[in-house]
Amino acid sequence: MSYQHIIIEIDDYLGLITINRPKKLNALNKETIAELHDAFRMLDEDEEVRVIIVTGSGEKAFVAGADIAEFADFDMAHGKELSRNGQAELFDFVAFLSTPVIAAINGFALGGGLELAMASHIRVASSNAKMGLPEVSLGLIPGYGGTQRLPQLVGKGKALEMIMTGGMIAAEEAQSYRLVNHVVSQEELLSFCEDLAKRIARNSPLAIGAAIKAVNANYKESVNGFEVEIEAFGNCFGTEDFEEGTTAFLEKRKPEF
Ligand code: COA
Repeated sequence: MSYQHIIIEIDDYLGLITINRPKKLNALNKETIAELHDAFRMLDEDEEVRVIIVTGSGEKAFVAGADIAEFADFDMAHGKELSRNGQAELFDFVAFLSTPVIAAINGFALGGGLELAMASHIRVASSNAKMGLPEVSLGLIPGYGGTQRLPQLVGKGKALEMIMTGGMIAAEEAQSYRLVNHVVSQEELLSFCEDLAKRIARNSPLAIGAAIKAVNANYKESVNGFEVEIEAFGNCFGTEDFEEGTTAFLEKRKPEF
């Protein structure tokens, strides 16, 4: 697939995806969502890539939402399809990826932009970033998982306040809500995320994939997360990574996964 709206760079264990529609504040149109799906799939399948960072191009926006121009004339059936397909193709796809994804939020993360950041496993914001779910100002509700993931991260009360006011919060406030893990200057954002990625990449990729799966199970009502953990924990004992990790410890050397 050739990419028109995103840039992919692979450096050793790190895959960097930059959403590149700066004139539209990196808004997610259909093609961008399809390209992102393909890029995340491709990087996840690449065994060399241990961590993926997703960010927006330019200094103004991570992603300013779904592309409003694209759905302005939709009816109810199309609206449902947009939400269902988008969740499957990108947002759930990212959340359930076994390669960890860090969202480097470099500016506006609104609507689908914040939803993409929330589907990622870790969020780091630059101090100029602004976040919100403004859909009710358009007569909509968040449709890419925002009504579910925002309360999981910040609690029901703050989530409803953000969704019902449709307002934006600054990076520091987002950190105090636990919506983002860290806030750093815009200049430091990528290097901070790369350091974080380096610390993750030292560890067993198989164990990390299993941990993501087990943690995600906590948020599925029909699933017993403790059972998922027991299963995933047991499976770790059959992996090369387990053999290497324990052998390296006993031999007093660093593991090579
Ligand atoms: N969908 C489509 N286009 C968008 C967009 C979106 N979500 N967000 C921004 N753009 C476009 C603007 O239409 C404008 O395009 P134009 O130059 O062709 O007119 C361009 O990006 C720049 O945006 P602009 O509004 O001029 O920048 P600003 O600095 O004045 O305002 C925002 C920035 C983020 C506050 C404003 O763009 C905004 O409110 N965007 C929509 C956010 C939103 O509601 N997202 C949820 C969608 S469900």
